[in-house]
Amino acid sequence: MIANRHETVPDRVRALLWRDGGLGLLDQRLLPQRLEYLWLSHPAEVADAIRRMVVRGAPAIGITAAYGVVLAARAAYARSGERWREELGTDLDALRAARPTAVNLAWALRRMEARCGRQSGDPEPVLLAEAQAIHAEDIAANRRMGELGAAFLGAGSRAMTHCNAGSLATGGFGTALGVIRSAWAGRALTKVYAAETRPWLQGARLTAWELREDGVPATLLADGAAADLMRRGLIDWVIVGADRIAANGDVANKIGTYGLALAARAHGVRFMVAAPVSTIDLETPDGGAIPIEERPAEELLALGGQRVAPEGIDVWNPVFDITPAALIDVLVTERGVLEAPGRLGIAALCQAA
Ligand code: MRU
Repeated sequence: MIANRHETVPDRVRALLWRDGGLGLLDQRLLPQRLEYLWLSHPAEVADAIRRMVVRGAPAIGITAAYGVVLAARAAYARSGERWREELGTDLDALRAARPTAVNLAWALRRMEARCGRQSGDPEPVLLAEAQAIHAEDIAANRRMGELGAAFLGAGSRAMTHCNAGSLATGGFGTALGVIRSAWAGRALTKVYAAETRPWLQGARLTAWELREDGVPATLLADGAAADLMRRGLIDWVIVGADRIAANGDVANKIGTYGLALAARAHGVRFMVAAPVSTIDLETPDGGAIPIEERPAEELLALGGQRVAPEGIDVWNPVFDITPAALIDVLVTERGVLEAPGRLGIAALCQAA
């Protein structure tokens, strides 16, 4: 039903644009109050923008870093001509270190680096073509995941998502929100819930806004309300994205995902992860080996610039958690779907052309 209908699925939001030789990032710190693109032309600005969450979401970070390499090579070539490669290291290291959990960042940089060795003369055209290919492939992968994931949802399904795994977190269309978009357009979904996603409020500020832009009605709920929503029998699926998937199928995603997976299992709600193959990291054996980013205390201490906790309070702010593979019912990738994902299925998926 849904296959070949994806052109009609609304997808208006773009987190990043390449225009007139510069990178435009929709500043996600300002949403939903202000819609402003930040235009960057220096590689150090790109690493900084990733670190400060101007752009966020694993695939979007990877694509942004790929364009960052284009800007780094342009600057190095202008300074040093044919010796540009020798100068790239510092910029690449800064991009690589910008955020540690999302593996798409390292994946995109490896792919760009592989292109750096091959040509003489101005490197920009070749590198720009590679970055644009990464960008376009991501959108195509998301559309495919949308079709595959939506096909799993029975008619009349009700779904909940966490964080923002939409167009704002990718090249476009989204992973988890791609599935939700496709299922909504194919009339499989009757209800969409978005969890607010403390402390940075990706759900309240970004997912709620993005779904509204695309005309998908959604209901916002506090993170703490999710388990009770399940107890009341009001949802059938939790659908989330991923920042890194280990070789055994364990998934790192936005803090709170693990709790949702536990609650879902306890209430017979099915749990779906949608992520491109570039999010799978075969070099990470299991979730325990995934580095978990901890962000500044201010994210918890203040809300919209207003202090909400007393002075002197100690803060712990890990921004991702690990959901064990055993709690995941369905893993959707652009290469296919795994039910009860595990080591063998993941390896086979990664080998498939
Ligand atoms: O800290 P963020 O906003 O970058 O975290 C994003 C997430 O956890 C997303 O769910 C994940 O990157 C998948 S995005 C398609």
